Amino acid sequence: MTKRKAPVITIDGASGTGKGTITHCIAKKLGWNFLDSGVLYRVLAFAAEKHGILLEDEAALTTLAEQLDILFSSEAILFEGQEITDLIRTEKIGNSASKASVFPGVRTALLSRQRAFQKMPGLVADGRDMGTVVFPDAEVKIFLTASPEERARRRYNQLNMKGIHVNLAALTEELRERDRRDQERAVAPLKPALDAVLINTDPLTIEEVVERVMRALEKAKKQ
Ligand code: DC
Repeated sequence: MTKRKAPVITIDGASGTGKGTITHCIAKKLGWNFLDSGVLYRVLAFAAEKHGILLEDEAALTTLAEQLDILFSSEAILFEGQEITDLIRTEKIGNSASKASVFPGVRTALLSRQRAFQKMPGLVADGRDMGTVVFPDAEVKIFLTASPEERARRRYNQLNMKGIHVNLAALTEELRERDRRDQERAVAPLKPALDAVLINTDPLTIEEVVERVMRALEKAKKQ
């Protein structure tokens, strides 16, 4: 007898589109597992810095990704036994993660770790290539968009709340650069899956976005 696979909702989009918040809300509402795939790339960037590996060195980054010693303990993230939950949330690590993520070897090395999150009763996964590459058979695929200004503003507020103070103009520029890199890379670029539901979050509240995702799930169940 073949085992039934847990259902998956993928939530892709650029940084600051609200992916993380929406993913948490949906996972909580449904009582499902969640995957913040960006964390894996952020831990890799942290590990590269710690071990003196250059972000241009594909071979060394790939080996590092294959052997990455990560532990997820409820909301905490541990690398080589050290808690790094907040340390990986900086813009510097985000940019380094984006640079390391362009390499095919790195992406392949992280694939099985991401797929291991697909467990009953279901998974809500957020990232850049969840619907296109990691979970192409997902029941529901969402692609969130928002204007660069709104995204920079959200990110700015998010960082401020964590006590990380940044310059809004510099942040906007960094976001643009990161988007360009994530969209233009040859493997698994940031783009909506052909069967994704596109949601522009600019005029919507978090609750309204959640509502739309839930509607997409209801629709998928009926098909
Ligand atoms: O979502 P985030 O800001 O934590 O992601 C950091 C970087 O990691 C992002 O700029 C590109 C990379 N990333 C990726 O290539 N694929 C994913 N599924 C998630 C993140």
